[in-house]
Amino acid sequence: MTTGPATTGVRLAGTGMYVPEGIISNHDLEKRMDTSNEWILQRTGISERHIASLEDGECVLTMATTAAERALADAGLTSHDLDMLVLATVGSEMACPSTACRVMENLGGGNAAALDLTAACSGWVYGLNLAQSMVSSGAHQRVLVIGAEHLTKVVERSTRGRGVSILFGDGAGAAVLTADADPSLGVIAQRMYSDGSGWRELYIPRDERDFPEGEYEEWKVGLMQMNGRAVFKFAVKTFCELIKDTLDAAKLDASEVDMFICHQSNIRILEAARERFGLPEDKLYINIDRYGNTSAASVPICLDELRKAGRVKAGQKVMFVAFGGGLTWASSLWQL
Ligand code: UT7
Repeated sequence: MTTGPATTGVRLAGTGMYVPEGIISNHDLEKRMDTSNEWILQRTGISERHIASLEDGECVLTMATTAAERALADAGLTSHDLDMLVLATVGSEMACPSTACRVMENLGGGNAAALDLTAACSGWVYGLNLAQSMVSSGAHQRVLVIGAEHLTKVVERSTRGRGVSILFGDGAGAAVLTADADPSLGVIAQRMYSDGSGWRELYIPRDERDFPEGEYEEWKVGLMQMNGRAVFKFAVKTFCELIKDTLDAAKLDASEVDMFICHQSNIRILEAARERFGLPEDKLYINIDRYGNTSAASVPICLDELRKAGRVKAGQKVMFVAFGGGLTWASSLWQL
């Protein structure tokens, strides 16, 4: 079923997540490079991150599939009920086919539109906004949005790559959106932006041609390159502006939002936003200590944990916020 009445409500019908069993703690990193548990905790808030096991075949495809299975089960649906599947990732397994198509096969098949979406850490929020528009317009009835990343595969694990190694972890999160007769459900306000002039601050080069002038070194090929300080400055400023912009569009005050579900990039960035809007600690969720930065997976992982803990539920207003490579940034304020 791919058509329906225009401007329907959109229900968040189910969520799921998956993180690999393997863990790299700060103490493990101390043994591999010139760093310390204290430095990492103080500068990022991270204690440990999960790592996909290459030996066991764990990858974006498998992690996305498991998170999606859990989200579908939570919504009481199967892959055959879906009209569209969006997989946000910077780690598509192949250029063709999309990993989304292979997730559909793993889930049991069906003919849903399936596509990968790349907007780095903003990817899942971009996907959520696109999916919500498809459902609220009546074009689709049921859409699955997944964020899945295997970033430990593209980080340098020696001291020369320590800024990146300490931050990133692997995992996947997913949510199912369904059309609903109640038109008040769904997005109240959303924002999506990019600034391509900042791409050099965070990129994963495939070959020599991808490097900005003067940056090429053979060891960097295939590995994430990040100007941590530049991204940090961009993030602190953008996060606060984005939240304000979205609240203004919705004509709401921060105190009227029940939960801020933000990309987990660095605890200092999250705390700056919390202080700026005077939010109590329990209104801006933080799990970066356990997972590190899982890029497009970080927001849906937070969402699933919050729903399962009963801290995010029907009737609430919730804001999703993310920023990342591109540069990109996006928000989505929901009436659940
Ligand atoms: O998801 C979106 C993508 N990325 C981000 O959001 C990342 C945003 N950036 C950050 O989170 C931070 O910039 C980092 C955590 C990556 C780095 O923290 P920082 O406070 O910006 O450190 P820095 O690069 O300014 O370096 C400060 C000092 C330097 O020493 P000196 O020159 O002051 O003596 C570094 O050499 O800290 C040193 N340093 C470290 N020391 C121990 C840098 N990385 C490490 C490390 N362990 N891992």
